[in-house]
Amino acid sequence: MDDAASVTTYQSRLGQIPADYYWRPDVLAAEIAHVFKPSWLCVGFAEDLANDRDFVTAQIGPHSIVVQNFGGELRAFRNVCSHRFSKIQCAKSGNRVLQCPYHGWTYDEGGRPIGVPLNKQSFGLNEADKSALALQSYALETVGHFVFVRMTNDGPDLRTFLGSFYDDLQHISEVCPDRFESESYDWAANWKLGMDNAAEGYHVPLVHADSFGLILSIDLQISTDADHSRYVGKLKERSLKWWANVGKSIKLQPSTVYPEYGNFLIFPNIVVTFSAGSFLTFQTFDPIGPEALRINSTSWLARNNGRAARGLVIDSLKTFSAQVRNEDAAICAVAQAGTREAGIRAPLLGELEGRIAHFQKAYARYMDGVTP
Ligand code: FES
Ligand SMILES: [Fe+2]
Repeated sequence: MDDAASVTTYQSRLGQIPADYYWRPDVLAAEIAHVFKPSWLCVGFAEDLANDRDFVTAQIGPHSIVVQNFGGELRAFRNVCSHRFSKIQCAKSGNRVLQCPYHGWTYDEGGRPIGVPLNKQSFGLNEADKSALALQSYALETVGHFVFVRMTNDGPDLRTFLGSFYDDLQHISEVCPDRFESESYDWAANWKLGMDNAAEGYHVPLVHADSFGLILSIDLQISTDADHSRYVGKLKERSLKWWANVGKSIKLQPSTVYPEYGNFLIFPNIVVTFSAGSFLTFQTFDPIGPEALRINSTSWLARNNGRAARGLVIDSLKTFSAQVRNEDAAICAVAQAGTREAGIRAPLLGELEGRIAHFQKAYARYMDGVTP
């Protein structure tokens, strides 16, 4: 009787993504088409796009995306020239007209090549040709700091897609205007494995025994909305004391909505952490290969008085974040290696890993009918 019950319990706790989906190249190709293309993806930040000719780029699998400011209007396009397919904007961000670096075709806010050097002699393109040669455009919306793009024509608007996380992103943007770090890190792990790791606090006591485990209580409240999830937890006494001192020394103005610890997982690939209502990290986990991901990470601080002590606070937040991140990178590489040996069974997900189960359900729905 006991045996039968335990078998049932174990089977009911299996997730929905088999182990081989964490390394197969054909699965990644299917994910780009069926998960990433129809989802709203964060590709940059409003403050990097504030001025005429400002641009940001993002790379999602094989897809390069550019968002460009045209006289105050933001537009998103496939970042590939209509002439002979060169990339157009090559930096991660900058200020430059939307001009191909190869032969100098220049594009307008409709994505049309309005400037074609030696057009008469070389192509004789008329207006209709130029319209037909417009760059592929993408849907674009902004909430708070965050600029989102969707590569498919049809789909829900950003507010519908994000559910209550729309207001969360607005709120944390208002509370934390002071960006102090923008970095990218490459990990030897499938992007989903990185998301799984960010989704649970179960690994914290062991993997982060000397860092995160010292400040975060394991007692986390999980909630979900749409395809996304959050957990809200308590900081330990020593961390609360540290933040109280920091708050006094640089006159922080923290959030009252998330006064201790909040963590949001926004499908498919965004991880937000929010500590003491004052310290925000915003990360996208972009696939760069079946067993490699790139984390684009920014860190922000709540409104403060900007005095010299801010530098010391930022230094210690950077040091702490780097330690936690390096611990996660190392364990994710170890876990990734294991997926190669694991056959096709899905992982076991306990109560504390409920957010992974939620992620996997959404993933299975997006991938429905796809059998790579
Ligand atoms: S490839 Fe872009 S102008 Fe030639
Ligand atoms: Fe971790």
